[in-house]
Amino acid sequence: MAIVKNPLELMMDAYENGYAIGAFNVNNMEISQAILGAHAAKNAPLILQLSSGARKYANTKMLMDIIYSLADQYPQIPIIVHQDHGADLETCVSAIEAGFNSVMIDASHYDFAENVRITKEVVDFAHAKGVIVEAELGKLGGIEEHVSVDEKDARLTDPAEAVDFKAQTGCDTLACAIGTSHGAYKFQSDGKVDIPRVQKLTEVLPGVPLVMHGSSSVPQEYVKIVNKYGGDLAGARGVLEETIKEASKLGISKVNIDTDLRLVMTAMIRKVFIESPKEFDPRKYLGPARDEIQKMVEHKIDVLGSGGKIRG
Ligand code: G3H
Ligand code: 13P
Ligand code: ZN
Repeated sequence: MAIVKNPLELMMDAYENGYAIGAFNVNNMEISQAILGAHAAKNAPLILQLSSGARKYANTKMLMDIIYSLADQYPQIPIIVHQDHGADLETCVSAIEAGFNSVMIDASHYDFAENVRITKEVVDFAHAKGVIVEAELGKLGGIEEHVSVDEKDARLTDPAEAVDFKAQTGCDTLACAIGTSHGAYKFQSDGKVDIPRVQKLTEVLPGVPLVMHGSSSVPQEYVKIVNKYGGDLAGARGVLEETIKEASKLGISKVNIDTDLRLVMTAMIRKVFIESPKEFDPRKYLGPARDEIQKMVEHKIDVLGSGGKIRG
C-alpha cells in the first residue's frame, strides 16, 4: 500500500467513520522510525508531514528516502506524505515533484480574496497531478479568558466564509482556527477549544474533512522529565486529550502533532545526559528517545481512534 495513490479515500474513511488520522511532523530517521513502528503496532493509517523547515534542515530527498525505505519495511501501512504549511505555489510544486501526495497551502495571513486566489492556484496544479490540498481559513491562536467575543470571532474560522472559501477554491480539506496554537504554550489555564464551532463547520461543510493544527497535548509527565533534568518548560500546556477525542468524532479528520514528538525526544535525551554523564554514543540517547516516541505515538493512535483502521 505504502504511499497511497488516492489520499482523499483515506481522509474520507476517517471523516465518515468518526476518527482522525494523526499527522506527525518528521525531521530525521529516529522520529520517522518511531512513528512507523507505532502505526505498524496499531494497524493505523498515517500522515507524515514535512514542514519547509524540516525539508531545509534534513534535505527533502533525504527525508523522502527515509520514508520510502520505511514504506518498504511496512508495506501494510497506507501513508500520506504531506507538505505542512506550504507558504506558496512554488513550495507546493516542489513537494509534489519530490513525491508528496498531499500539500497544505497556508495563505491564511492574507485577506480572504488573496487567500482564495493563491489556494485556487495550488488546487488547480495539485489536482491535475492527483494530489490533495489542505487550505487554511482563520488565524490560529489560543482563546484566553480576557479575549472578547468579537475579537475571538475575528480570528476563528467563520462558518459562512468557510462555505464560500470551499466553493471558490475546491480545496479538499480545511484547516480551521478553533482556539489551538502551535508550540508548547497553548493556554494559560485549562485549554479551551471551540468545539461548537467545529460542529457548526461540519454542518455547513458536509463531506469536507477538517484539520486541527496545534494539537499536541504536551503531556505533563514529559514536561516534568525535561524540567527535572535541567530544562525549563515551566507553564507548558497543550490541548486536553478528551477535546481531541471529541473533535475527531465531529469531523476533524487530520490532527497535527509536532511539539509532543520534540518534547519526548528532548526529555529522554536530557535524562540520559544527566543520569549517565560519561555516555557519548549517540545511539545510547537517540535509541531510548526513539523507543519512548513510539510509545507516545501508540497512545496518540488510541486517542485519535485510528488503530485497526487499515482497510483491505
Ligand atoms: O507548524 C509548525 C510545525 O510544528 C513545524 O515547525 O516550521 O519549526 O518545522 P517548523
Ligand atoms: P503542535 O505544535 O501542537 O504539535 O502542532 C503542530 C502543527 O500544527 C503542525 O502543522
Ligand atoms: Zn500547523
